[in-house]
Amino acid sequence: MEIRLNKFLAECGVASRRKSDEFILQGRVTVNGKTVKDKGLKVNLTKDVVTVDGEKIKPQKKVYFLLNKPKGFVTTTKDEKNRPTVTELIKTNAKIFPVGRLDVNTTGALILTNDGDFYDKLLHPRNNVVRKYTATLDKPLDPKDAEKLLKGVYLKGKKGKFLNLIFPSKKSRKIVEVHTNEGMYHFVKRMFETVGYRVKKLNRNSIGPFTVENIPVGTYRKLTPQEVDQIKN
Ligand code: URA
Repeated sequence: MEIRLNKFLAECGVASRRKSDEFILQGRVTVNGKTVKDKGLKVNLTKDVVTVDGEKIKPQKKVYFLLNKPKGFVTTTKDEKNRPTVTELIKTNAKIFPVGRLDVNTTGALILTNDGDFYDKLLHPRNNVVRKYTATLDKPLDPKDAEKLLKGVYLKGKKGKFLNLIFPSKKSRKIVEVHTNEGMYHFVKRMFETVGYRVKKLNRNSIGPFTVENIPVGTYRKLTPQEVDQIKN
């Protein structure tokens, strides 16, 4: 069976399809000993020999974990400052990577997998996956500012808005549950900053259907085949 090179790399757990495209354009990928720069090239799953940075790529068994990320862990596979990474928290021999990013001090729902195709499906803006966060602010959120965040504010020329804001505590408007389908970097913190608030604590309660409600911080569970299918199909 023949599939596109970027899909092959994503399926083998090298990276997402978009990231795999970058590897191809950077000349890091060879097929049968020749460097290729054609993202659309088709490869034969059983016959062609593909390498990335000189390492032979083979299809791997796909694994999927839902982690309740603790504070202090970075969501990259390596850190130049030698801080602990989220992959260190998961016991597996598979080469997994986080699906999207959370700031080092953000806690909560994070999926890790070696399936680049799953990554693309979950994070593609077209799929409008809803993320739910609980933010603790430096001061109570004024109803007028809440209104602005729901209507939309400009972040460096790009409009961003929250889908919903809920106040779980009757006593304090400092604690806010935020619903958004934006995956932009530092999105929640930047949105609040725009209207004059600092986010002191941030937890992602869920991403799409995956919630960490019953997963203690620092621990994880595997996704079920049904949960994986729900995203992939
Ligand atoms: N928005 C943020 O500001 N930080 C995160 O970690 C996630 C969303």
